[in-house]
Amino acid sequence: MSVIGIIGGSGLESLDGLAVTQRKQVATPYGEPSSVLTFGTYADKQIMFLARHGDDHSILPHKVNYCANLAALQQAGATHVIAVCAVGGIRADMSPGSISIPDQLIDYTCSRRHTIYEDARDYAAHIDFTEPYCAALRVQLIAAAQKAGVDVITSATYGATQGPRLETTAEINRMDRDGCHIVGMTGMPEASIARELELCYAVIALSVNYAAGRAAGSIEMQDIEATLKQGMGRVRSVLAEVLADMPAT
Ligand code: HPA
Repeated sequence: MSVIGIIGGSGLESLDGLAVTQRKQVATPYGEPSSVLTFGTYADKQIMFLARHGDDHSILPHKVNYCANLAALQQAGATHVIAVCAVGGIRADMSPGSISIPDQLIDYTCSRRHTIYEDARDYAAHIDFTEPYCAALRVQLIAAAQKAGVDVITSATYGATQGPRLETTAEINRMDRDGCHIVGMTGMPEASIARELELCYAVIALSVNYAAGRAAGSIEMQDIEATLKQGMGRVRSVLAEVLADMPAT
């Protein structure tokens, strides 16, 4: 049985079309999650939704309590988590508006609580992370996008940066050399904590700008916001389709 939790990022603070049945504040051993969990029906499926940056988008990427967010979803019964992330495009085809389903990541973040484990005697701490995303859920997302008629790039390496500032051109050049195709500030430690909690986790990444130095001029927030607004409709179509195809819970 799959119980789906959705983590909405920038531009997806709430899920239009979610028929809300309950809102619940969940306490976790790691502290408060970013928002209450919203339970409801979406595409005829019972799901739960959490706003990564808070309901009013007040929590910056480096301040998000990733452990609490994932633990809250798990405590509420989620088995699968679909996370929506806004990213910058490094590779030329990751142009603003494009959607990708990453299959690899590189972590450049620092100073974030990045694990639920504290004690060297806990051998479970050394999770396997060879494939950082849940393969089965990725396949479902790609199939759902096809059904929804939404173009998605089916493989991408996500570079997670600390933020909140954007990167320099030299940093993006280095990430490019490292093999990153997209860059965002929230993909880690979200993915690894999900794995620690044994949640099946995958990401829908919406490119909202070209990364630093990949387009002429500076990166403007109003352009990012316009692309977010325009792109989230297609992200919602993929979400609706993937849920429609999930077995009823
Ligand atoms: N860099 C890092 N994070 C981002 C970007 C970017 O260019 N765009 C959206 N999130």
